[in-house]
Amino acid sequence: MALVLALETSCDESAAAVVASRDGDCQVLSSRIASQVEEHARWGGVVPEIASRRHVEALPVLVETVLAETGVTVGDLDAVAATVAPGLAGALMVASVTGRSLAALHGRPFIGVHHLEGHLASVQLADRSPEAPYLVLLVSGGHTELIRVDRSGGMLRLGRSHDDAAGEAFDKVARLLGLGYPGGPAIQTAAESGDPQRFPLPKGRVSRPEGGFYPYDFSFSGLKTAMLRTVEKLRSDQSELPLADLAASFEQVVAEVLVERSLRCARDQGLDQLVMVGGVAANRRLRSLVTEQAEALNLGVTIAPLKFCTDNAAMIGAAALTRLARTVTASSLEIGVAPRWSLDQADDLYKTPPPF
Ligand code: KG4
Ligand code: ZN
Repeated sequence: MALVLALETSCDESAAAVVASRDGDCQVLSSRIASQVEEHARWGGVVPEIASRRHVEALPVLVETVLAETGVTVGDLDAVAATVAPGLAGALMVASVTGRSLAALHGRPFIGVHHLEGHLASVQLADRSPEAPYLVLLVSGGHTELIRVDRSGGMLRLGRSHDDAAGEAFDKVARLLGLGYPGGPAIQTAAESGDPQRFPLPKGRVSRPEGGFYPYDFSFSGLKTAMLRTVEKLRSDQSELPLADLAASFEQVVAEVLVERSLRCARDQGLDQLVMVGGVAANRRLRSLVTEQAEALNLGVTIAPLKFCTDNAAMIGAAALTRLARTVTASSLEIGVAPRWSLDQADDLYKTPPPF
């Protein structure tokens, strides 16, 4: 059995977890999250300075809580893990410094984790986790990517958004509709009673310089503009905004685009399993559409458990355990944080000297 304490502070959730692996199966022994969402909601988005300060206050309490709940001491751990990239620099620093200090004080290895690798690992926390190879649709506030994961753990990005991430589009459209922050859950709630077919909206595509379109890439900026134009037109007609129909139409087109391109990519790659992770994977319409359409094509679907879609530390622990099981022994204690660092470069987090 391997046991890790994992920390996550890359954006606006402070989180700590104790995660164990037994015979390759991940078990979350305790997972705690202190959300700052209400505080940032007042400003309509995440304020980096406030996020860092709140992490400093919340993280030590969360660490004490998850250790007390599991009866584990730092000395029992096989490693202390923390997200070190990508994210808000000041926010990332809190988990990175806390994790490295605990590791150094107790003579345990430190494992720096790439946040997206954490999201990918969240599927290991499902009741039945899929066996690679599979295609992952990673949809969060900062990223929309299609990634092929191979049996060896190798990851290859096959598709991406050229402008906003899907979650960012939810957040911006929610602001446009006056629905508040974070936009995803607000739009989902407003959309419940709406007509998803009422407003025809575009499915943005990305042109190739040599002609045609990138088949697995995404663009949400045209959709955002179409929503703005629709709202402006309704306002100029003096009509009250049909918020439920607007939210449902938007949610529907985003879900359709994500599902269509993922299924096409999986089929072209000869993969018979699709995995969905990240904050937007919590969306009910998207969850049901992907399940229904993949099943119709005989594709297996695994979606990260609802509570591990949005940011949490259990997924960071799962990623660290996978690294430990596959030859990584530690990151350098001199590693810092990197606000931007692509998933292709995740292996570099374990090099000496560290890349940042
Ligand atoms: O993965 P996550 O917690 O943080 C990042 O790594 O970005 O994702 C946050 C994003 C936000 O944009 C939020 O609006 C979106 O996930 N989100 C949702 C839902 N819950 C969270 N989007 C659509 N429907 C939801 N139910
Ligand atoms: Zn995230």
